Amino acid sequence: FRPKPLAGKRVLMTAGPTFEPIDAVRGITNTSSGKMGYALARACRDAGARVTLVSGPTALSCPFDVRRIDVQSAQQMHQAVLAETASADIFIGVAAVADYHVVNRSEKKLKKNGSAPVIELAENPDILATVASLPAAPFCVGFAAESENLIDYADAKRRRKKVPLLVANLAREAMGTDDNTVTLLDDAGIHPLPAMLKDDVARAIVDHLARLVDPTISN
Ligand code: C5P
Repeated sequence: FRPKPLAGKRVLMTAGPTFEPIDAVRGITNTSSGKMGYALARACRDAGARVTLVSGPTALSCPFDVRRIDVQSAQQMHQAVLAETASADIFIGVAAVADYHVVNRSEKKLKKNGSAPVIELAENPDILATVASLPAAPFCVGFAAESENLIDYADAKRRRKKVPLLVANLAREAMGTDDNTVTLLDDAGIHPLPAMLKDDVARAIVDHLARLVDPTISN
């Protein structure tokens, strides 16, 4: 038996990579598998929450009893999330959102013509920072995947994006694998967790999150 620490809560999440089209068949993406986000969606559901998962392209099937909204690009993810924030108590940004999109994208497949094409990039909106700065913002949780200086970068990110809880992991350990080693950062400090399967990491994050959202919970 497990208690339901998120009973009645509405959780909105992002997961997976984004795909930024270059032309009709090509695009810029990253190595995010979506596994951590999907594990967290299942853990939130098991904790009693109603879960809406805005997902970039992944090979994963929609978890039972989770409402999934499929998107490709960061701008589509941004729009889908903003349309749902008013009915969310908690927002968790797990997606590896592309920092840039292609401005001069071609609707047709680009053909080789002897000179290499120039891809022009422009910055994408920061979905997590946007949601966290809304006047009636849900409780926001961010993720940080870094290759070095994990805790310093993650702490700076938590402050910059103004999120009460941030989950930090090393990109090489987190991306595409079945297990993960994370450190939780909140107002109270730094909480390293042991290496675990992503399902167990997700449960630990949910327990920590539930205590922050409702301090009367003692799980
Ligand atoms: O700045 P960085 O991409 O490392 O921040 C990671 C956190 O911010 C993750 O929670 C990610 O989902 C979120 N993010 C976002 N929109 C972006 C970039 C990152 O929501 N454009």
